[in-house]
Amino acid sequence: MTEIIKRRPKYLNLVEIKLPLAGFASILHRVSGIGLFLMLPLLIWLLQLSLASAESFETLSAVVAHPLVKLILLGLLWAFLHHFCMGIRILLIDVQIGVEKEQARASAKAVLAVSLALTAVLGLKLLGAY
Ligand code: HEM
Repeated sequence: MTEIIKRRPKYLNLVEIKLPLAGFASILHRVSGIGLFLMLPLLIWLLQLSLASAESFETLSAVVAHPLVKLILLGLLWAFLHHFCMGIRILLIDVQIGVEKEQARASAKAVLAVSLALTAVLGLKLLGAY
């Protein structure tokens, strides 16, 4: 009986597991892709508001001025930038560029840093800082 208990398969505890940086960036790539996909209706609605008429543009300005909408757009901005940078990294790895462990780790770090930096720069614009 104890032998059976010992041979039970172990399941990964995602909270306790020490994920490599590339694995972390990869999970965020999936999360950001799904987030972007799920938010397409909102983005298309905002695009439609921006194009339909002068009045709908006024509505758009009011909607986008709401802090919650700004927060959602900031999240989407990060999601797109992370997904874009990570997508480029994956495509490069697909053509055998940066496949070595150290290079892959460095590029994952670069993706996280660059996407956060670009989010900060463009996010400040979104929040009206310049
Ligand atoms: C133009 C920028 C984009 C690039 C360069 C890009 C690149 C990629 C690549 C290379 C993959 C495959 C990842 C893999 O092999 O594991 C992927 C997956 C995916 N992309 Fe994109 N993508 C872009 C934009 C988008 C947008 C705008 C959306 C959503 C509206 C999106 C949603 C997804 C989803 C849901 C997946 C599947 C993720 C997964 O199963 O892990 N992507 N993308």
